[in-house]
Amino acid sequence: MIDFSKKPLFLAPLAGFSDLPLRSVVKQFGCDVTVSEMISANALVYEGSKTLEMLKKSPLETPYIVQIAGSDADIVKKAVEILNGIEGIDGIDLNCGCPVPKVVKQSAGSALLKDIS
Ligand SMILES: Cc1cc2nc3c(=O)[nH]c(=O)nc-3n(C[C@H](O)[C@H](O)[C@H](O)COP(=O)(O)O)c2cc1C
Repeated sequence: MIDFSKKPLFLAPLAGFSDLPLRSVVKQFGCDVTVSEMISANALVYEGSKTLEMLKKSPLETPYIVQIAGSDADIVKKAVEILNGIEGIDGIDLNCGCPVPKVVKQSAGSALLKDIS
């Protein structure tokens, strides 16, 4: 459980940077909540070894949040179900802000905000 009354310090998700070694270091410098790199919901559903590796966390990382990106509601739902079955994941963040073409082309990230109905 994240105690927001204590104004917890979060490590922002940084694709390509907020991997396990970085998160372990920032945790030792007083970060309260760490967030994984952005993980594709599609890749998670296919359970590729590289993707499963990206989910790994240090025992120091509690609470730990995993960020996913996706656009297909069924795939995102399946990804969430997979994450719910993994011990030690305290929260799931759906990326709605990434503007990178690779992500937007798949209607994920900030492209999700084009249709908020
Ligand atoms: C290299 C890089 C990668 C990022 N990757 C992600 C990401 O995967 N998911 C996300 O939500 N935000 C991502 N961001 C946005 C950051 O988490 C953060 O919101 C942004 O840098 C603004 O933070 P600041 O106001 O402290 O500079 C990324 C930013 C940078 C510079």
